[in-house]
Amino acid sequence: MRKGELIFEGNEKQVFATDHPDQVIFRYKDVTVAYNNVKRARFIGKGALDNQISAILLDYLNRNGVETHFIERIGDQEQLCRKIEIIPLQVVVHNRIAGSLAYRLGVEEGYRHSNTIVDLRYNNDELEDPFINRDHAVALGLATYQELDGMYNNARRVNELLKPLFHKAGIELVDMKLEFGRASDTGAIIISDEISPDTCRLWDEATGERLDKDRFRLDLSRVVESYTLVLTRLKQVTETE
Ligand code: C5P
Repeated sequence: MRKGELIFEGNEKQVFATDHPDQVIFRYKDVTVAYNNVKRARFIGKGALDNQISAILLDYLNRNGVETHFIERIGDQEQLCRKIEIIPLQVVVHNRIAGSLAYRLGVEEGYRHSNTIVDLRYNNDELEDPFINRDHAVALGLATYQELDGMYNNARRVNELLKPLFHKAGIELVDMKLEFGRASDTGAIIISDEISPDTCRLWDEATGERLDKDRFRLDLSRVVESYTLVLTRLKQVTETE
């Protein structure tokens, strides 16, 4: 596999072309950003941790019937992925209220609700990723109602698979953000982007400690240590399966 030109550079990752028309190399940087890029830092080793965690989770989904862009991890900070056309939507699944949802609803962080909440955001930095509904997404031509139904069902299925997996690792999956894209080879809408402590809220079930990007957002320190703990526990769970 030959690494070609840089085709996308984001704050936290880079995407390179390869000599295969339907495959790209996804590189996780050590940079982390929050609050729509207002807060930024570099943590040596974070890219490699996100790469490994994301590889475990995306591979687990692939093996359990949820199609993702992930093919294989090919280096410390790199993974080979299927090429997709980005759909600029974020599907956010909440199992417990935290973060901006707590603020929006005026509910204390940690509030337990019996249902699963699925939110939709328009992935647009200039507009600060506003919350939208299905009608807005269709009006903007981002997806059809049928495609949105598929994404919502997929997001719930991902949650049903990952919640128990994290639970086995002694971690509560509080919420997570998913992104989708259209695969260049089949046209199918598949999970794209990463699933990692950067895109999920993960709380230690025993101590309640945050093991995700909130450690950076809220200046709680031990960012790399917490991500390492998530990786170690996920490895233990998935390697014994
Ligand atoms: O920021 P908020 O509380 O709305 O985040 C909900 C979930 O979505 C969290 O797990 C957060 O890490 C994730 N998220 C993300 N990328 C964004 C916004 C939120 O991964 N741009």
